[in-house]
Amino acid sequence: ALPTSPDIKSCGLPKLPADVECTNCCPPQSSTIIDFTLPPTRRTPRVRYAAQLMDDTNIAKYKEALCKMRALPPDDPRSFIQQANIHCAYCNDAYHQAGFPKIDYQVHKSWLFFPFHRMYLYFYERILGSLINDPDFSIPYWNWDNPYGGMVIPSIFTDTNSPLYDPRRNIYHQPPTLVNLDYNKNDQVCLNPKQQISNNLATMYKSVVSSGTPSLFLGTSYRGGGEPGCPGSLERVPHTPVHVWAGDTRQPHLEDLGVFYSAARDPLFYAHHANVDRMWNIWRTLPGKKRVNFKDNDWLTSSFYFYDENKNLVRVTVKDSLDTTKLGYVYQGVETPWLDQRP
Ligand code: C2O
Repeated sequence: ALPTSPDIKSCGLPKLPADVECTNCCPPQSSTIIDFTLPPTRRTPRVRYAAQLMDDTNIAKYKEALCKMRALPPDDPRSFIQQANIHCAYCNDAYHQAGFPKIDYQVHKSWLFFPFHRMYLYFYERILGSLINDPDFSIPYWNWDNPYGGMVIPSIFTDTNSPLYDPRRNIYHQPPTLVNLDYNKNDQVCLNPKQQISNNLATMYKSVVSSGTPSLFLGTSYRGGGEPGCPGSLERVPHTPVHVWAGDTRQPHLEDLGVFYSAARDPLFYAHHANVDRMWNIWRTLPGKKRVNFKDNDWLTSSFYFYDENKNLVRVTVKDSLDTTKLGYVYQGVETPWLDQRP
């Protein structure tokens, strides 16, 4: 068997819904590729804060950094539109698999889901930090599993004058409406807040605690020449329902967050995925010998490409992604009452 990687040289047009204007979402070409190396070890890791607990200084930093990122020319690989396009290219079949020119390449619905999105956020964060000359900069996470203030769209994203705002979101799901972590496009049943919270906690337990093996939680294998298999429990729920819940029903395909090609045009995407990434860390701390990462070499050596803060194209492998402290960051600890909410 073989690892997978996208053939970056032959990036082509994405496959979009039929009525969406087909635009190229490939990154700029680069004549050189460097292999990723871990950043120098830090005495104290950077902390990614829960968005609802961020202080004004950190909010101001994120706004300033994102404002600068949005102001970069669109062909600069660090620009916000290029960052958003990464998701389109990797998720809407713009790439084929290296070595298999007829087979599409895809980072969802398999064991690539967590590593790909972790490294995607890592470079997004590094670029933002470098734009404001702050090596300690870190992005916030949307703490949607936390009943004490996390289960609404965080207010830093809903200020219409902020660079963190995106107008293409569901207008009925604005704060104080609680997120439904198991949302299936059904707004008919309207639960009272207490019921919604208790359903959400049960959903978290099911998706994180009940998945006792790497393939149940991280997703099944995806090897060179093959197709993705099954998504892991957390990718299925709540990851996808939260996307769909936040997407704008006035748009044809729930743009921005509710559909792959446009999801990362909403800054809330990166906060949503930071919480997804945090769940990978939490899952690994749970008891049980099988709550460990895969040891499979095809997984460990599968690779992705991202531009870094110096506009260098970097090749990253799954094995680079396994330890967030080695990548220089941790998540702010908050309460996780769902850990013992067996439904
Ligand atoms: Cu690449 Cu939330 O999906």
